[in-house]
Amino acid sequence: MRVLVLGGGGREHALARGLADSPSVTEVLCGPGNPGTAGIAENVEVAADDPGAVADLADARGIDLVVVGPEQPLVNGVVDAVSARGRLAFGPVAAGARLEGSKAWMKEVLVAAGVPTAAHRTFGAGDEAAALAFLETLPGFYVVKTDGLAAGKGVVVTESLDEARDAVRSYLSGDAFGDAGRTLVIEEGLTGPELSLLVVCNGDPDGARPLAPAQDFKRIGDGDAGPNTGGMGAYSPVPLVDDALVDGVMRDAVGPTLRELAGRGIDYGGVLYAGLMLTPTGPKMLEYNVRFGDPECEVVVPRLTTDLGELCAAAAAGRPLPDIRFTPDACVTVVLASEGYPASPRTGDVITGVAEADAEPGVFVFHAGTRLVDGDLVTAGGRVLTVSALGPTVAEARSRAYAAADRIAWRGLQRRSDIAAGV
Ligand code: AMP
Ligand code: GLY
Repeated sequence: MRVLVLGGGGREHALARGLADSPSVTEVLCGPGNPGTAGIAENVEVAADDPGAVADLADARGIDLVVVGPEQPLVNGVVDAVSARGRLAFGPVAAGARLEGSKAWMKEVLVAAGVPTAAHRTFGAGDEAAALAFLETLPGFYVVKTDGLAAGKGVVVTESLDEARDAVRSYLSGDAFGDAGRTLVIEEGLTGPELSLLVVCNGDPDGARPLAPAQDFKRIGDGDAGPNTGGMGAYSPVPLVDDALVDGVMRDAVGPTLRELAGRGIDYGGVLYAGLMLTPTGPKMLEYNVRFGDPECEVVVPRLTTDLGELCAAAAAGRPLPDIRFTPDACVTVVLASEGYPASPRTGDVITGVAEADAEPGVFVFHAGTRLVDGDLVTAGGRVLTVSALGPTVAEARSRAYAAADRIAWRGLQRRSDIAAGV
């Protein structure tokens, strides 16, 4: 198969690598890709968010399968557009991608499907007074979320009523996130460890299969301090999560959600990313995403021993999925971010040590936000590199990942030092 990976971050680098290693795949293209994918695939220019442009590229290059990384092209309908040309596309159609495109709609689907989730209410432009009043009714702490896409940064979790009020005002006015925040969801704060369960779906609610569980570290600072980010590190497997727990989530949450969607005429394909909190009263669904998690993908895909190309093609074609198998080795990834991330990342700093880190056994350095300028690799985004390492235990994988990350430097590099610590 000739496969096009859409996107240009660490997740897409990990997907491109997994696909390049798949016996079913003869050629990998990345649109637009990044300097890391250039080593294993052909990078091609494409307006990834424009479904028509992607479908044209797939036609022009005779692509058999498009694997979509980020959410925006999915929300814009890239799977619909590519499928309409008779080609396979891995991901949900736009109607299904709305699960991530609108948190208010996602909550409505969860409630209709009877899936346990945080108590919540949705507010729109004229509702500021009602939203502020609802905050007062919440015990403990406050969670305010943009309805629309905000690159993982549209969620405020705080114990401060004032901070929650400020979020409500700045979201509803459009000051903070433009239209994405003019509708918002306020919900009760939940506590407990988080779990990311990526589920591969083939359009049949009974045909969906989970990938290995992963845990992600969302806050910028050690000890979960500071603002939310897209994710600062991850590990898999998660010793806290056994097969019975995964089976329960599939039975009580994912299955009912897929059936609810099917009832609304949406045959969901691709990855359904269930973001759960394991609360004292059982698992509750925080959110669904409609794609691989980033950086969860960078710890799950390196552990996959099943042919990734075959898995994605079966899901996209609506065929029964092949058996999904993983190495018993653990994988840990540490995100290296630029100074100022997440608020205002500085870019253009020269990066050193990537080749040395990548040469370590069992280590993969995935590029997330890099660029080549006159032969130098420089920072080009908030999350710059994701350093993944395999090892016989989470602890061993962790020390390999940090040893490799220690070889990489640039001015202002920030990273957490406690990813997968004590697991
Ligand atoms: P979301 O984008 O909805 O997953 O939210 C991003 C992150 O905010 C989650 O991974 C949690 O760490 C946190 N979060 C979201 N909703 C809640 C909640 N109801 N209670 C506590 N933390 C939450
Ligand atoms: N790591 C969180 C996400 O991909 O949304």
